[in-house]
This record gives sequence, C-alpha cells and structure tokens, in this order.
Amino acid sequence: MKAARLTSAFLALAALLVPAATLSAQQSQASSDSLNQPAHQNRDWWKNAVIYEIYPRSFQDSNGDGIGDLNGITSRLDYLQKLGIDAIWLTPIYPSPQVDFGYDISDYDAIDPQYGTLADFDHLVEEAHKRHIGIIMDLVLNHTSDQHPWFKESESSRDNSKADWYMWHDPKMVDGQREPPNNWESVFGGSAWQWDPARQQYYYHRFYIQQPDLNWNNPAVRKAMYDVERFWIQHGVAGFRLDAITSLFEDPQDRDEDYVLGPDGKPLINAYGDKVVKTNLTDNLPEVNDVLRELRQVANQTEGRKVILIGETYLRSVDDLRKMYGTNNDELDLPMDMEVGFPPNGVDVLNVDRFRQRINEAETEIDGNMPLFVFDNHDNKRWDRWVTNDHKEDVGRVLATILFASRDTAMMYYGDEIGMVTTPPRRKQDVKDPIGIRGWPKEKGRDGERTPMQWDAGVDAGFSAAAKTWLPIPPSYKTVNVAAEESEQRSMLDWYEKMIALKKADPALHDGDEIMLNPTDQHVLSWLRKSRDGEAVIVACNFTAEPQTVSFNLTAQGVSTFHVKTLLKTPGAPDPLSIDMIQLGPYGVYIGKVE
Ligand code: NOJ
Repeated sequence: MKAARLTSAFLALAALLVPAATLSAQQSQASSDSLNQPAHQNRDWWKNAVIYEIYPRSFQDSNGDGIGDLNGITSRLDYLQKLGIDAIWLTPIYPSPQVDFGYDISDYDAIDPQYGTLADFDHLVEEAHKRHIGIIMDLVLNHTSDQHPWFKESESSRDNSKADWYMWHDPKMVDGQREPPNNWESVFGGSAWQWDPARQQYYYHRFYIQQPDLNWNNPAVRKAMYDVERFWIQHGVAGFRLDAITSLFEDPQDRDEDYVLGPDGKPLINAYGDKVVKTNLTDNLPEVNDVLRELRQVANQTEGRKVILIGETYLRSVDDLRKMYGTNNDELDLPMDMEVGFPPNGVDVLNVDRFRQRINEAETEIDGNMPLFVFDNHDNKRWDRWVTNDHKEDVGRVLATILFASRDTAMMYYGDEIGMVTTPPRRKQDVKDPIGIRGWPKEKGRDGERTPMQWDAGVDAGFSAAAKTWLPIPPSYKTVNVAAEESEQRSMLDWYEKMIALKKADPALHDGDEIMLNPTDQHVLSWLRKSRDGEAVIVACNFTAEPQTVSFNLTAQGVSTFHVKTLLKTPGAPDPLSIDMIQLGPYGVYIGKVE
C-alpha cells in the first residue's frame, strides 16, 4: 500500500490561490520600486524573444572562490544587453547540498551563500530590468533535496505533519526478502526506490537518491510550491523554467514499466548497466496538465506584467507538445521543443529532411502557439556534437541561423555565441557530475558542457581570479573568447549579434509566418518568412560540405517579386541578384529580402 498517495487529489484548489489584489499588495512591499516596474510590461515580450541560459557556477566569479555568482552575472549585463537578449534563465541558485549542482534544493525562499544573497538577487533583477532583460528562475517542483526540512520531517515517522509529502511505499516481500515495490528506474541509474531505515519504507526518486520526489497528489505540497512561485514573483522575476515538469506524477497502481527491447528481443542496457525501461507509467501523466493550470493561475495574478512559464518538456511527439500549451492557452507559454534540437537516440546528424519536418511540425501543428527551440543546454553536449568534419564554425552558423531565423522564441546557452565547445573530463577522478562517476567511461557526465565562460585570454579566461576554478578552463580559451571575438569581424560572436539583431528588427524575421521551401531538396534547408505587411525574407542553409546553388519560385506563397537584397550571408559566395540563383559555400548561409 502506498502511504503517500492521497485520494483527495483534486480538492478545491481555488482556496490555494491568493486573489490578485493580495499579490499586488504584497508586491508593493518589495524591497525596491524598480522591482515593481519590470522591463516586461508588454505582455507579449516573450514571443519571438531570445532567452539566454546561464549556469551560474560557470558564468562569472566576482569573489575569487572559483565559482560563479550573482554579482558576477550583474557585472556582465552590459555584454548581454549588447548581445541583444531579452531574458536570462538562471539554473537553480537556491541553498542546496549541490549533489546535482542546485537541482537538489534545501530552501526554496533563499539564495545559496556561494552565489550571493537575496539582496544580490534583487540587485541583479533591478539592473537587468534597466537593460530590458528579465530574470527567469528555475523552479524544481518534482523533488527537493533529502536535506530539505520537509523531507527530514517526512522521514522521521509515519504520522508527522509531512508524512505524506513524499512518495513513500512499503517494500515488496519476495521469499521473505525486502524488495523495491516495482521496476521503476532513476534517470541517473539504478532503482528509483531507496530504502529509508528511519521510516522503514522506500521512497521514490526519479533522479539522485538525494532528490526524493514530492507527492503532488497532496494539496499541501501544491500550496507550498505555489507559495514559492509567489515569493519569486514578488522579487520581480519575469518567469519560471519548470524543471522535470512532466515527472510530477506516476502510475497510481504502481505497475512495472515495460522494457525497451533491442533487435535481439532482449532489453537494451544503458550506460549504468540497467535495463532500459519505457517511461509510460512515470512520465507525462495527464495530471501534470492540472498542475500547469494551477501554476498558470498564480502566474496570472500579476498586474501590469506577464510572468511566463517555460517547461522542460522532453516529449514523444508534437501532439504531446501541443497539449502543454493547454486547450485554452492556460498552461505553459513555452514548452521546450526538444524535437528539433535534440534528436532521439542522440543521432545528431545534420539531416535536411529531419530538420525540415520537425520545424514544419512546430510551425503548423501546435495551434499557432509560439515554439521554443532549444539547441543547447547544461544537460547535453554542446553544439559541436553536430560537427563531423572540419567545417566546425560553419556548422555553428547554420545552427544559429536555424535558431534565430525561425518563427520561434530562441533559447541559447551561455558560450554558444563564441563557439565554446564541449570539453569533457579526461580522467574519472576529475569528474564532478555524479552520473559521470557512475557511468564512466560510457557516460562522462555533464561537466563538459558546464565549463567556465571564456571572456578573454588572461588568467582563468577572465572568469575568476582563483588559483583553481570549480571546473577547469578549456584549452580553447586562448582563441575562443569574448574579447578576441569582439575585435574580429567574422567571429561567431559577430554572427550571433547580427542574427539576434535581425530577429529583433526585421519585421519578417521577427514575427512573420514561416513556410518551408523546396521540400525535396536534400542539401539545402530553405524557408520563407513573410510578415503581415507582405515583407518577405528568404533563408537558405547549406547542409553539405559542397557548394550548392538554389532557386526559388514564390508565386504559390503570394510573392511575385524576385529581386533579392542580402541581409546577411557567410563569405564564399557572391551576392545574388534574384531568387533564381543563390549560391552557397560549404555549410554556407544566405538571408535576403525579396523585393
Ligand atoms: C533537469 C535538469 O536540467 C538537470 O540538470 C537535473 O539534473 C534534473 N532535471 C533533475 O532536477
């Protein structure tokens, strides 16, 4: 019997929601007036925007301890403003034992001292607002740290006030032996069930053992988390990125998951030596959508500004993605579309058809909502995972072009803009991410995509003044750094700045419709952006190492003109005169206005 599951799951949740008037009264008590005058008063600010993910440990260290911090981020806001971003998503900065580098939270209403103080956070929000940049907090709702007072109390007995806050379960007894209740697995290896000697029960943890899952069937858990949401709204955040949001609920009957079978009919084995399970019973259950609507109601209780909800949504299909927006647009504003940027099974091959199909789905099959494309983050190898030849930077430009010239909100990861590459640890003893220790050498963990930002060619790449930084500075910093690229005309940074500027300023590239062109072309991915006023821009990306020539006929798209004026292109091909003949160098890009 599962003690933690409450049947009174869907109590009148209206009672949990603070009325709008209350929240704005609380807001007016916020420490600084400017927190109440955020940059993001335009309710649509997040549409077609650029969101920049910062891994705070690795962005800028201001106090010389080798770990990035909030004041460090504040000191780099001018750089981010120049880059042209609209918002920063900060991965978790709450107090945490740091087993999962912040995703194991022990206090939701404070800042981990290694990153600074709440006053530093308010200062960051204020300074960011002055530069029209919003701050997006990471909200980890699925689990807490096992050091959180809620868990400590919950595990202390079976009848304390938080006894049902986590997923407790009696063991299965087999031949007198205690076994986990079923075959559910942790994403990070091993059984998802951990025996707790104090409580004499198992608890469920989808991620590390130190990250027990909360029981979202319990209304008290929901209320506590909606209070957290309010707390940070009062501190002026522009939105939340909802961590592991599809994992909040599991099968109420606790049935075993099926195994994923290989060609030989036997279960596949992952890097941790576990049989790979399907996650139909532990991921994306329909109850998630109820919680999203409740989170949305809280976020909507802000006067004069829009607080957005972004979801970490690794989903199986575009249908599942569409559902995340809510049937009445009352759930997520921006569920992450991982289909375009993270092909299933890690097959990162630049395949024109796959990109065309996935982008087209996102543009046409999500009820006209705003796609959020994500090509890089702190959990996956960086963009260089796509590179299989010596056209590295050119491939980087192709990817950036798809990200910024699509009709989307674009999520980028710190360091992408200078072409920082994945730098995994060489030796097991250097690995910091626990999954890299457990899975070595097949799974080296996520350190490789979390290395310090490369600002210049000086000490610690300008990231820190410490003798040792928490992760080593990659050797590439001598040439791949902000200072060098700011003074170089054709740098990756230059391409990013220009692409972002076009996304903001050009009416067709900003919010024009997106129509895929030349659908049978196996070499070049091309699309048209067309604004409401009929302005048309063509984008063409060569997916091959050979030069290519493309031509377009846009009459079916209602464009009768054919002269083209270059907005941006990579070197290696002449400026075309018309859409009849556009030449592209190897992995070349062309963006031009049709007039
Ligand atoms: C997703 C986060 O992006 C990842 O870094 C973390 O380990 C898991 N969720 C668990 O919170």
